[in-house]
Amino acid sequence: MQPDRNTAAVVIREARASDAEAIRAVHLDAFDEEGATVAPLALALLADASAQPMLALVAEVDGEVVGNVIFSAAHMQGADQLSACILAPLAVVRRFQGIGIGRKLIETGLKILRERGVAWVFVLGDPRHYTRYGFSAEHQVRAPYALEYPEAWMLMSLHGDALDSVRGQLECAQALRHAEHW
Ligand SMILES: CC(C)(COP(=O)(O)OP(=O)(O)OC[C@H]1O[C@@H](n2cnc3c(N)ncnc32)[C@H](O)[C@@H]1OP(=O)(O)O)[C@@H](O)C(=O)NCCC(=O)NCCS
Repeated sequence: MQPDRNTAAVVIREARASDAEAIRAVHLDAFDEEGATVAPLALALLADASAQPMLALVAEVDGEVVGNVIFSAAHMQGADQLSACILAPLAVVRRFQGIGIGRKLIETGLKILRERGVAWVFVLGDPRHYTRYGFSAEHQVRAPYALEYPEAWMLMSLHGDALDSVRGQLECAQALRHAEHW
């Protein structure tokens, strides 16, 4: 029997190597035609040494992986000591969308990153969604690629630093170095 979305007990945990196929399936289910790009991106990031240190989380309901978020390492040109990451991709399977799993993945991820001493998190996404978590487009960090919607390129400080205390050109993990992801 399939778990009921109204009573589902959701567990958030770090992804394991054995979750790769389930993570692919989550992205293919959650996105429309974009899934064909996002699912391979998720798997490429998981295998990408340049994305380390990485935080990859899955959401499980009754042992089934139903959501995934990946935070991959990013670097500022000329500022190697900067500790930053990029939130991408994020998805929850359609059957379990709208019951708070996406929020739980993001909030758990931000909490773990804060505890690990990461200072900055970037995201390219819908401002209506991400400003709720504290992300803002009012910053001076250039994205790795030219953006169609600059207002969707947002930054969040995990330790209360002023957003204008960091500026320059961000470099992302190898797997994200494709214009189609931006
Ligand atoms: C985006 C996604 C991960 C959100 O997961 P979810 O479990 O459905 O989200 P939650 O139930 O935690 O919703 C949190 C809130 O954000 C809103 N929200 C969710 N996705 C949103 C989006 N893409 N844009 C704007 N708002 C969004 C919800 O309406 C909800 O608002 P509410 O608290 O006022 O009801 C999921 O809908 C999904 O996989 N969508 C397809 C893939 C995608 O667009 N990924 C994001 C790319 S940046």
